[in-house]
Amino acid sequence: MSDRLSVEIFPGEVFASTDDFDSGIRQLIPHYDEMLAAIALCLPAQAACILELGCGTGELSLQILQTCPTAKVIALDYSPRMVEYSRRKIEAAGYSDRWRGLAMDFGDWAVGNRVDEINESFDACASSLAIHHLSDDMKLRLFKKIRESLKPSGCFWNADPIVLESPQLSEVYQKAREQWAIAQGTTLAEVRAKLGKSNTYGYSSQDQLATLEEHLQMLKTAGFESVAIPWKYFGLAVFGGFISS
Ligand SMILES: C[S@@+](CC[C@H](N)C(=O)[O-])C[C@H]1O[C@@H](n2cnc3c(N)ncnc32)[C@H](O)[C@@H]1O
Repeated sequence: MSDRLSVEIFPGEVFASTDDFDSGIRQLIPHYDEMLAAIALCLPAQAACILELGCGTGELSLQILQTCPTAKVIALDYSPRMVEYSRRKIEAAGYSDRWRGLAMDFGDWAVGNRVDEINESFDACASSLAIHHLSDDMKLRLFKKIRESLKPSGCFWNADPIVLESPQLSEVYQKAREQWAIAQGTTLAEVRAKLGKSNTYGYSSQDQLATLEEHLQMLKTAGFESVAIPWKYFGLAVFGGFISS
């Protein structure tokens, strides 16, 4: 365990070894696949161009490429390890011609750096389990940048952990997570033994959670007109909205 904890990873990479991510995240995050499927389902099926923020090992990218058969996906992650891991998986699935991975901090993009590397405007933007690493000020800046980058009627859907509505519910959620891990044949303690150690990197640091209401307010402030929560399980939610036509 001490070896793993000495491995320095970027905030959000989660596991000391990237090879542990796909199985480990499914043990750590209840209903992970269902959550990603909810995001993919909310995207316009005929989309031509979709931006994904914090692609990790490419699991959401794959769902998007399957659900939106004509879409080109531009996927950012500041970890070159993650972009490379995704790239190999996308190639193996035969989607290379519709996927471009970029090693880039989405905080940098939000504040106007490296914008010339992303020239397109998008039908939709999607993200999972990544944006909660930004401060609330930076979340708002990012939501504004996403809004500016969308075509009319475009949408943005994000899955992230949230601050739960009450401490009592947080306790119930912890119990649900433990039961989930046991149902997957492990325990949270066993999964957590595979975690890496991270400090601040670029615009991201350890979890910086906000409530669901705060997220919806940030989306409205950023210019999203109809905001919604299409999926929620205790402290995990998919939320987002549409901009006007
Ligand atoms: C928990 S993983 C989730 C990956 C994938 N979206 C999924 O749901 O499986 C979060 C990812 O966000 C990336 N990330 C975190 N902060 C970032 C930032 N500021 N810019 C770009 N990528 C970031 C991490 O490197 C990591 O790959």
